[in-house]
Amino acid sequence: MTVDLDDPGAIRGADPGEMLGAVAALAGQCRDGYASGVGADGLPDVADVRGVVVCGMGGSAVGGDVLRSVFRDRLGVPIEVNRSAQLPEHAGTHTLVLASSYSGNTSETLAAFEEALRRGCRTIVVTSGGALADRAAGHGVPLIAVPGDLQPRAALGWLAFTGLGALEAAGLLPPMAADVAETVEVLDARAAACAADIPVAENPAKRLAIDLDDRVPVIWGEEGIGAVAAARWKTQFNENGKIPAWWSSMSELDHNEVVGWSEPYGRSYVVIALRHDAEDPEIAERFPLSLAIAAEAGASTEEVRTHARSPLAKLLDLITRGDHVSVYVAIRRGADPTPVDVIQRLKAALAG
Ligand code: PA5
Repeated sequence: MTVDLDDPGAIRGADPGEMLGAVAALAGQCRDGYASGVGADGLPDVADVRGVVVCGMGGSAVGGDVLRSVFRDRLGVPIEVNRSAQLPEHAGTHTLVLASSYSGNTSETLAAFEEALRRGCRTIVVTSGGALADRAAGHGVPLIAVPGDLQPRAALGWLAFTGLGALEAAGLLPPMAADVAETVEVLDARAAACAADIPVAENPAKRLAIDLDDRVPVIWGEEGIGAVAAARWKTQFNENGKIPAWWSSMSELDHNEVVGWSEPYGRSYVVIALRHDAEDPEIAERFPLSLAIAAEAGASTEEVRTHARSPLAKLLDLITRGDHVSVYVAIRRGADPTPVDVIQRLKAALAG
């Protein structure tokens, strides 16, 4: 069954959990999340902090990727994203640990948080509740609460921008209000352009979802914000679209993946290059050369480019475009974008 993406009623019917609405709400989440982070109470003293570790899994780790990629070139201390139950060995009393779990019940994040407390790290918690909220309250750890009843991946604005605001309020990041304002404006415009009532001919997200057809997307982005956006497109294709997808960073992929693009394998794939206007000149040269290699192997190729100014707006603009495409991919195939039963089954089995 293929749902007609020119029929807004059919789109609504195929999206009972309203994931399209959640994706379109990203701008408001970023604005409100930033305000709540900046206004957070009792943040730890970070004057002598030598590193930041964001602990989280899946949708709750992406906020850490946003911080890491946007601030790598602007922050005197490293930001690391820890997607495991183990804290890196270097984390100690001079480390700020930001524990991020939307549900507050993710075993890896809870274990890393407990370890951070044992080691005397400075800690901040971002969650909608669960055991993490209870433990933060029990240990007097500052907690930034985000609204519940969303899928974690649909709460990216809350999870990333509360952290952003809190790190600014703590004194680690420069004032970000102007970049946040640009991001909100860009995201609002993008949601309007990709809305359900905009016909396929004028709607870039619907068009790309149709062009993908039954091929597997491979997303490329420049190391840094481009690669973080590419990884998010991949996981959104998986969780919203219910299809396999892969991603790679440029120029790493030019040192291995390009060799694998050979006939007849390319025909099963669409390579989507995520581009922005501040790429390193050599990287900008590599994209068309590398896309040509994939095309020679039979792959279709697409380019998605942002003209946003700040790194934060560039990244969120690329992210929201993939979020919209992934939802239309699901709807077109008659798959419900919202539930992720497989993840819930795995968690239940492990809690067993
Ligand atoms: O998208 C999802 O549902 C997952 O990737 C979750 O984010 C992941 O399992 C971690 O759960 P939580 O975000 O509640 O910590």
